Amino acid sequence: MNILKFESQQKLNEAGAGILAGLVQTNPRVVLGLATGGTPVGIYEELVDTHRKGMVSFKSITTFNLDEYVGISTDHPESYHAYMNHHLFSHIDANPARIHIPDGNAADLKQECERYNALLDDAKQIDLQLLGLGHNGHIGFNEPDHALMSGTHVVKLKEETRSANARFFNHIDEVPTHALTMGVGTILKAKMILLVVRGADKAEIVHQALTGPITTECPASLLQTHPHVVVLLDSESGRLV
Ligand code: PGA
Repeated sequence: MNILKFESQQKLNEAGAGILAGLVQTNPRVVLGLATGGTPVGIYEELVDTHRKGMVSFKSITTFNLDEYVGISTDHPESYHAYMNHHLFSHIDANPARIHIPDGNAADLKQECERYNALLDDAKQIDLQLLGLGHNGHIGFNEPDHALMSGTHVVKLKEETRSANARFFNHIDEVPTHALTMGVGTILKAKMILLVVRGADKAEIVHQALTGPITTECPASLLQTHPHVVVLLDSESGRLV
């Protein structure tokens, strides 16, 4: 694992956006796995800025998002569809036909997982998967458990995850109870993984995930088995590693 620590959020954002933009510049048809949440916002901002300066075009990329809530409409401001449009897609020239986000409103969620897995199979391999880290070690919405699923599946969100995400909603009761998420098999199949973590409240889980035992009770610890992981940490989240 290549662990990089940054003194400022700006430097971290520039490094993250630089890795993504560099990949797109060298391979315009790159397949990117994308993440949502508070963590990647600054990286997407930098990426949009790089695009505005004419330094990178996204018109031939393919993207797959990690996850989506079940049961809120795609135009709900906290849906991950809305998040991606707001922070990235409405500002760049990516082709909507090659942007993929699971549909948390599908009538048949199991069938939707199968559809998403088939699209991922067609794409063969994600070149770079961007990941944030949950306080409980989740990646995507793969929550700690005695066993994990390989492919896309429906997940019941842990109460700690709902509480962490309640900051984006008016009230915790509005936070969905379920989500669709890419599985850890798909995540680990990516050629490269870019894990980004910020904040003192994640120092302990960063330490556990990167240096502790490999266990499904800390899904991010499985990243230790991957041959090409780059970890971007701010100084607070990286305090113990
Ligand atoms: P956050 O979420 O970026 O909003 O902290 C990370 C995650 O839950 O994966």
